[in-house]
Amino acid sequence: VVVDVNAEPLFSQARFESLLGTSWAGRELHYLATVGSTMDVARGLAGDGARHGAVVLADEQRQGRGRLGRQWLSPRGVNLYFSIILRPTVDRLRALAMIAPLAIVDGLRQATGLACTLKWPNDVQFEARKLGGVLIESELAGDEPALAIVGAGINVNYDPSHESEISAIATSVMKETGTAQERELVLAETLNAFEDWYEAPVAAVQGAWRSRLTTLGQQVRVSFPSRVEEGLTTVEEGLAEDVTAHGSLVLRRADGSSVTLPAGEVSLRQEA
Ligand code: BTN
Repeated sequence: VVVDVNAEPLFSQARFESLLGTSWAGRELHYLATVGSTMDVARGLAGDGARHGAVVLADEQRQGRGRLGRQWLSPRGVNLYFSIILRPTVDRLRALAMIAPLAIVDGLRQATGLACTLKWPNDVQFEARKLGGVLIESELAGDEPALAIVGAGINVNYDPSHESEISAIATSVMKETGTAQERELVLAETLNAFEDWYEAPVAAVQGAWRSRLTTLGQQVRVSFPSRVEEGLTTVEEGLAEDVTAHGSLVLRRADGSSVTLPAGEVSLRQEA
């Protein structure tokens, strides 16, 4: 059987709009079949004057990217790959790394009933397997933030068992719930939650983000680029004791000293 995959759009914009309850997040939607990365498309549209909250959604990415220069697998039609264009205040820009993963967790719960958790700094997980991720890119104009692009990848109906490399560390909503889920609903509920958290007081954001972290109380190993010598990696190991108001991780080393690690270019391994 030959199916013309281009005949029907894979995502129903009308259905999505009927589920969206926001006043600005996702009200301008740019839905594309194939892109390199939605991050780059979003940046271009922002330059052309796209409004705050505009979303770029793609069915497939050829060069989907993750944090730390990693690749983000983006097979066609099964998952959600989107970027939100924002013109944030300094305060909101600082909170975005908490707001975005929080919105995914709440959106998924609302849309599918699945209760995910967060691995510091912003991986969305189900039982220690990765289900979603967030990538934030921002631009300053002088000292003021001019633009932020929040990229999110959510494994909705993807079957990671095909990919032996990934199946040990990744999962999807379909795999965990046993049923294919409506991507329109997952996106709408995630954006509904995103707008709510974006408008919430920072203390509420911090409290909710902290309460969903599985990292606290765990023995962890954190790698990050050394500041002094370019290209070198520093590793810190210890007990993840706390997070600060800005989302940094407070680690208690074996010798009893403590170190605070900002949630920048870090990679973290935890026991769970
Ligand atoms: C991570 O490393 O956990 C972050 C993954 C972010 C992936 C999303 S998919 C949509 C957007 N476009 C990209 O190229 N990356 C982000």
